[in-house]
Amino acid sequence: MRFALNIDHIATVRNARGEFQPDPVAAALLAEQAGVDGIVVHLREDRRHINERDVRLLRELITTKLDLEMAAVEEIIRIACDVGPELATIVPEKRQELTTEGGINVIDNIDQIKYAIKELHSSEIEVSLFIEPEINQIDTSAEIDADFIEIHTGVFANALSEEEQFDELEKIRLAAKHAKKLGLGVNAGHGLNYQNIKVFRELTDIDEVSLGHAVIARAIFVGLKEAVQEMIRLIR
Ligand code: PXP
Repeated sequence: MRFALNIDHIATVRNARGEFQPDPVAAALLAEQAGVDGIVVHLREDRRHINERDVRLLRELITTKLDLEMAAVEEIIRIACDVGPELATIVPEKRQELTTEGGINVIDNIDQIKYAIKELHSSEIEVSLFIEPEINQIDTSAEIDADFIEIHTGVFANALSEEEQFDELEKIRLAAKHAKKLGLGVNAGHGLNYQNIKVFRELTDIDEVSLGHAVIARAIFVGLKEAVQEMIRLIR
């Protein structure tokens, strides 16, 4: 299983003072040296953390792969096509939310998402759709030519009982298997941490996990290199 690191919250700390440090681009390069397989950033419409300068510099400097999380809106589609990440992950976006709160409903937003996929593909960017582990969402993703899905793991991560957590993990496992059968690549993420990541090693249909908050939070205490390598030891 590959491990892509989301570095949005390095930019959150930088932006808290409106200055230049800590630089998310420097963090990405350090994370690559520590062994991550990819860098993830979410260029939000309100630019609350990552900005265009970050995305463009990351594109120039990183040597693994760039996954740009984005809403399926014209302004960001244009930037993505211009920058050329290896992967664009379409997420729902609400201004009021603290973080992405769940998967996008591909069926309800089909025209908008189809358009985004077509535009991104025309710039040779692969597209992933961040969705709930539901069969009809996966089928629709495959029908409209997505390359990957990213399964939202937030419900699993926030489950209040072991039973609920087990049920949600089973849903994720079946969703990943179904997506694989349809030829989709399978990523997963949201709310994963040093404890709950361990069970994901058994989910062999998941190609990659995307993690941010837990690793950046740990990095404050032990440094980014150590925080990344501790996670790598748990994943592999
Ligand atoms: N995947 C997606 C689509 C996300 O929006 C986020 C959060 O930005 C993550 C993964 C990572 O979640 P976390 O920060 O909880 O690890």
